Amino acid sequence: MSLIPRMAFLLELFRFASSQGGSTVSTGTCHARDAGDCIEAVSEADVDTADDAHAAAIRVSLMQKEHLQLQRSKQEKIAKKGRQEIRRNTTTRNDTIFPADLVSCAGESVLQTQQMSLDDYDEVVDAMHQIWMSLDTKCDESGCMQADWAGCVVNFAMHDVMDFRDNSGGGSDACLDFADPSNAGLLSCFNGTANFIGLAQAYSDFCSRMSLADFVVIAAEAVMSITRESVLTADGARKQIDFRSQFKFGRVTSERCMSTLDRIPDPAGGCRATQSSLVDGLGLTWNQTAALMGVHTLGSLSLEHPGYEGRWTSAESSRMFDNGYYVSLVLSGWGPVYGLKGDDDRAQWLRVDLGANKDKGLEAMLDSDMCLYHYMFDDLVENEDLYLQAHLNARSAEAQGCKCAWTRVEDFYPAMEKYNNNEFCGSPVYYPRLADLGFGTTGHIGLESENTLQFAKQRMSCCTIRPPNQQIMASEPQIDCGLPSKPLGKAAAAIKLFANYEEVWIDSFLEAWGIATTKTHAQLYSTR
Ligand code: HEM
Repeated sequence: MSLIPRMAFLLELFRFASSQGGSTVSTGTCHARDAGDCIEAVSEADVDTADDAHAAAIRVSLMQKEHLQLQRSKQEKIAKKGRQEIRRNTTTRNDTIFPADLVSCAGESVLQTQQMSLDDYDEVVDAMHQIWMSLDTKCDESGCMQADWAGCVVNFAMHDVMDFRDNSGGGSDACLDFADPSNAGLLSCFNGTANFIGLAQAYSDFCSRMSLADFVVIAAEAVMSITRESVLTADGARKQIDFRSQFKFGRVTSERCMSTLDRIPDPAGGCRATQSSLVDGLGLTWNQTAALMGVHTLGSLSLEHPGYEGRWTSAESSRMFDNGYYVSLVLSGWGPVYGLKGDDDRAQWLRVDLGANKDKGLEAMLDSDMCLYHYMFDDLVENEDLYLQAHLNARSAEAQGCKCAWTRVEDFYPAMEKYNNNEFCGSPVYYPRLADLGFGTTGHIGLESENTLQFAKQRMSCCTIRPPNQQIMASEPQIDCGLPSKPLGKAAAAIKLFANYEEVWIDSFLEAWGIATTKTHAQLYSTR
């Protein structure tokens, strides 16, 4: 953003102006100017002068903002105390432990399934359903066991798959190393806890007829179907998801997989890491990759391992398998943060719009999520050396002047209406570009300047809810990460579609999931 921030803003204005047949910015309602450019600031002064229906809306936003800032500051203190506690209790694991080490089978366990019927598939689904029913249903900002269990089971299957490389092993073989910090969080659902039985124990009923590798994929599919049920119960018109009819068996369990260690993508690597694991590794297109990433609607990030914090959606939504991930990504404003884990340099994104309310749980995104839609600069940077700076990267964002990633409301009316209570950036009041009503630049208060004000007001509601020590001038266009109206992320068009039309995402997801989970070096067969 630091490259051409003001030019970008002017370009944005110019676009609006030219689409309305004008070419100059009217002096009508611009309260602050620099060398002739309007550097609009939205404040109480604007409330006083905006003699239309938006004045009340701005006042509400400002009050809401103050209230939420106080709330966030209080909760930050509580979170900090919790983080110190976690650090004291964290130990380092040096042992290599693979899933097969934790399975005990009464009969002779099979490494490859010889035959499988749909009844076998359904039995695994029933076993997962029983675990689901045993989980605590409490779900709020302090925790959500159902969401975390569901997220863990699906993430286990995906971590198993993401180490696939043509001609060099890996893939869907139920093998990963629990001692790798990226996999450490997966131990709870695999080995079980005091609160629920683990996949390893559930598998003992199937171990003499089904490979662990096939079992893990069915378990993940069962969990996504179960968590989809809650969505369908709330709204019967939403699309069903059918994994069962496309499932294929025959994966071979690997008891050891030393050669595939370190292949799990690093979130800080952004779209470069995603490219090497999902695009080059699994052979997915960027749109399929974006579809697969929608699973992040389930579960949470754990501060302990690998060191990020929050959920991609609200706590309640994080136990429902829907397009909430995309809705959250585009209908919220996001700010870069680092140092959440004490002095560690992990960086991520936190919600900074009027909806950033910890009563629903801390909402977060990783670089690898954000880069699918947003970009650091206003135009694509082709130079490979600049890749990490150019692609959205929370660690270097501040240095680039990129402090808030948000987008324009006009592209997301279907998503707002169908999936977000008609809210944008956490508020039912939003500020789209005004249509040309024929008044021209000399009308009421001047259309271009009115649109300038709209743009600044929208930035205010999308970018201002931050901890007290990270306050910014949200009225300044140079804080934007790229142009809000021109997202340049790797899969921006697909993300827009998935946010607005969940049924399109479901179809793309099934396709991508099918490709990913059949990445194995074994021959697969259809169930009968
Ligand atoms: C570049 C690709 C990806 C990166 C960098 C990434 C990164 C992460 C990270 C850091 C976590 C937090 C883990 C923890 O705190 O224990 C996580 C969780 C999760 N990931 Fe991903 N992920 C990627 C792709 C995927 C894909 C393709 C899927 C599924 C199709 C997936 C499913 C999940 C799920 C369900 C969770 C929640 C886990 C839980 O609640 O315990 N991820 N991911």
